[in-house]
Amino acid sequence: MCSVVGYVGKNLSRSFVMQGLARLEYRGYDSAGFACLHPSDNRVIYAKVEGGVSNLLKSFDSLPIEGYVGLGHTRWSTHGGISTDNAHPHFDCKRKISIVHNGIVENHRDLRRELEQEGHIFHSETDTEVIAHVLESLLTRHENPKNAVIELVNTLEGAYAFAIIMSDQPDSMIVARKRSPLCLGSGEDEMFIASDLLAFADKTNKVLFLPDECFAFIKKDSVEVFDFNGKKLSTRFQIVDVPQVDDLKNGFEHYMLKEIYDQKKVIKDTVSNYKAQASSIWHQMGLSAPQIKCLQRISLIGCGTSWHAGLVAQFFFESIAGIKVEVGLASEMRYRTFFPDPYSIAIAISQSGETADTLEALRFLQNHKMHTVALVNVSSSTMVRQTAGYLPLYAGLEVSVASTKAFTAQVAALYWLANAMAYERGKIDKDTFKAAEDELLVVAEIIENSIEEYKREITETLAAKYAQYSTALFLGRHIAHPFAMEASLKLKEISYIFTDSYPAGELKHGPLALVDEKMPVFIFSVVDEELYHKLLTNAQEVKARKGHLIVFAFEGQTELIELADTVFIIPKVNPLLGPLAMTGLMQFFVYSIAKELGRPIDKPRNLAKSVTVE
Ligand code: AGP
Repeated sequence: MCSVVGYVGKNLSRSFVMQGLARLEYRGYDSAGFACLHPSDNRVIYAKVEGGVSNLLKSFDSLPIEGYVGLGHTRWSTHGGISTDNAHPHFDCKRKISIVHNGIVENHRDLRRELEQEGHIFHSETDTEVIAHVLESLLTRHENPKNAVIELVNTLEGAYAFAIIMSDQPDSMIVARKRSPLCLGSGEDEMFIASDLLAFADKTNKVLFLPDECFAFIKKDSVEVFDFNGKKLSTRFQIVDVPQVDDLKNGFEHYMLKEIYDQKKVIKDTVSNYKAQASSIWHQMGLSAPQIKCLQRISLIGCGTSWHAGLVAQFFFESIAGIKVEVGLASEMRYRTFFPDPYSIAIAISQSGETADTLEALRFLQNHKMHTVALVNVSSSTMVRQTAGYLPLYAGLEVSVASTKAFTAQVAALYWLANAMAYERGKIDKDTFKAAEDELLVVAEIIENSIEEYKREITETLAAKYAQYSTALFLGRHIAHPFAMEASLKLKEISYIFTDSYPAGELKHGPLALVDEKMPVFIFSVVDEELYHKLLTNAQEVKARKGHLIVFAFEGQTELIELADTVFIIPKVNPLLGPLAMTGLMQFFVYSIAKELGRPIDKPRNLAKSVTVE
């Protein structure tokens, strides 16, 4: 997943394009580039570098290129390593066509072979460069560029969103999308193009979300959109609630730390907003109260941290609302056999709402006539437009690649929803529902207080101590197991320490072989007495092998606390909210370890915030 940003208008394009790229850099930061048409002779001029937008900005000191039609890109490498040659933009043989692209052209090898036989010379290993050469070849056969683009989009296979500028078309830009997101912003005699409206959120709130499988010709004051058969589409710019884009760090050193500290407010906003929407919540989901009453199964689908939130929430719907839950890993789900069930719905969980694996899983379920709902943090995302129902997350803008407050918002919203369903189904009464809302607010306080309580010890001692280890094991039982999976992912993705997670009961069936004095073992406790004692046995198994125990325990769990080499004690809460109460402290601890290692915390290597390719 990369970011595409473009500009056609009355002003010179570079400053907008660079600002837009800086905002969308969460989508990829392996390399960056900018191209525009020279104002005097429409020549394609460009600059591209390895690394992020800041490197590209530096390159303009020696090469201050500018133009009224410009496009830019930040890359997350898929085809071809990280190099200046593979950085976008890419060109045709005569350098009259320049392209930036997000997505994957699956038939790029075959096309490249044919074009090389036609004499085309390639300068990169990327799938993207093929698009420029295909268009170059088609323009020799089609007088009218529109017909060339029709043949182009019907030649390419895969998912893509691209923007093209051409010396021969100096006052316009060509864009196309199939699956990968792309939207336009309309200003006074200027048009903004981007993978995410965040790029131009401070410029305009007039937005056109390009429909799937279309291409468009964009001028500074007009847009013509066509489907892949060349049929003109009537499209309308809509007024959209755009996010604030001022300095988002609020003085914190990293976005991740700021977002960890946002979580108390996130839970409060979740409870107050859902409470306020309670009477229309089923309608928002595209459902009715009778349908909730006879619901028999919920499929929760997602990837990464969102999948983990689904695994935690499974316990909510099953034990509170009495509804069977299947949690599907989106990247695997559509390759399995589907069992239709008229009394079931699917809820797609996603921070970005753009994760390609989850979007494809949704398309699979929709093809099987399943009712789908999106629980998403970005209201302007593709997933919200693609599903029958929408439940907002109240995390606010999450910039750091490692998801923190979105996880908390997902778990809190799903806890509220399970209670709302239980109330609608007569499983709990009004007071119990109210008590559940109050429990979430108690947990919000615990999240912040526990960080304050252990902050000093972590930053002054523990972070350095645990930054020395190159591996770690994460264990939990019952609802704490998916939480252990989340903690393992968090440490892995920002510190590059190799981690693994297991249900604690599984330890003796193999993973215990990993345990010795060099293996730190994180254990997340549970409030439930019976499960706590099972977990205690697992902790003793680790100690018996000289394992090093880092324990997140609840007050009064003395035996486990005494076993630990390092211990964090959390006030007791409703057993189902145990993981949520530990979330802030867990995230702050792993953040501090990664900081100790000097990692680029907000932009870990090889990752990106929203994964728009499969
Ligand atoms: C989490 O820290 C990661 N960034 C990643 O696992 C993420 O949760 C996953 O890619 C799903 O993204 P989504 O919530 O935007 O769909």
